[in-house]
Amino acid sequence: MSEYVEENYELSEMNKAEEPAKSKIVLVTGGAGFIGSNFVRYILDTYTEYKVINFDKLTYAGNLNNLTSVEDNANYVFMKGDIANKKDVKNVFEEFNPDFVVHFAAESHVDRSIINPDIFLQTNIIGTQNLLNFAREHKIEKFVLVSTDEVYGSVENGRSSVEEDRMDPNNPYAASKAAAEFLIRVAHQTYGQRVNVVRSCNNYGKYQFPEKLIPIIINNAIKGNKIPIYGDGKNTRSWINVFDHCTAIDKVLHLGRAGEIYNVAADDECCNIDLAEKILKMMNKPLDLIEYVFDRPGHDFRYSVEASKLRNEFGWKPSVSFEDGLSETIEWYENHQDWIESILSGDYVNYYLENYENGK
Ligand code: NAD
Ligand code: TYD
Repeated sequence: MSEYVEENYELSEMNKAEEPAKSKIVLVTGGAGFIGSNFVRYILDTYTEYKVINFDKLTYAGNLNNLTSVEDNANYVFMKGDIANKKDVKNVFEEFNPDFVVHFAAESHVDRSIINPDIFLQTNIIGTQNLLNFAREHKIEKFVLVSTDEVYGSVENGRSSVEEDRMDPNNPYAASKAAAEFLIRVAHQTYGQRVNVVRSCNNYGKYQFPEKLIPIIINNAIKGNKIPIYGDGKNTRSWINVFDHCTAIDKVLHLGRAGEIYNVAADDECCNIDLAEKILKMMNKPLDLIEYVFDRPGHDFRYSVEASKLRNEFGWKPSVSFEDGLSETIEWYENHQDWIESILSGDYVNYYLENYENGK
């Protein structure tokens, strides 16, 4: 360990995460998005003595309506800002001096990254470095990057990726997340920062923006619209309910050994066509709503991660079965059509046309 690290980071002092402390300030980036908003609610419910700062640019995917149930909570603060803008990041660190950073903010949709990669590099890479710089300056206790199983690239049937596997991203989104992960690694190796990475499989649940597969299936089925399935529908994903992802991040935030990566998965694997049929049957909708469309360029065939490190080290396990999670999610979208209507703005409609009609 270099003198620079010893002097500037006071590592022994920082090694407090083994015992969850009474009161902490948690800076959540991207807290107005799908997983971030579920995590903000989870932390406020679980740690009533913690204060949560939600720092979000409110892109098309960020929506403060996701957080109406906590907006009057005295322990919750929203601050609008862009992680790619140094001044915004400086302001949030100076104003709140957080103990923890849980970093969700990202451009998160693969199809959009294929249409326009630039913003993915700006937010996912430059934004991550900005946060790491100020996290170092403010000597924060733990920084967790919420990454993805997509960094491993496609995995053959019968195998699951483990944390030591090489990163092999195949689309601009996955490449930008892999780059962010390297910056996290450097923050630990060079500067001794206390960082973790979580690599989760595909999430589903309430408040997911309707550009992703499961909410597309549910919402198009509700409206009687066609459900676009890419290629032959045999591409396979592993799914986890967003609540279980939140409990996994909680474990890693408080107990994760600095510098370590943790895979997160519930082992509910399904190919896209089986998933679409399963949901349509649960909703009593006709299977002929499914429409095969042009395949996604560079479409990874299968993702699968092995989460035994997380299970063995912390006794973490998922609590929501795929059946129950899907049926709760269907019910939530059926009962929140006003939420859907409020976010289907011109931007989304234009994107939908470009991706599904003009582009194919
Ligand atoms: P999302 O697109 O629903 O939300 C992203 C949030 O980040 C939005 O609130 C948006 O306004 C905010 N944001 C975007 N750019 C920003 C910027 N420059 N500055 C500040 N805020 C900005 O995404 P999600 O599905 O909730 O994913 C959250 C994180 O989890 C991402 O980092 C993603 O890579 C990762 N992840 C997602 C999944 C999944 O299945 N959705 C799986 C594994 C990992
Ligand atoms: P998606 O929800 O975009 O997540 P990711 O690309 O991060 O895995 O897509 C999940 C799978 O569903 C992926 O194999 C692509 C496929 N897909 C469709 O078949 N049709 C669609 O309209 C979308 C959005 C995705």
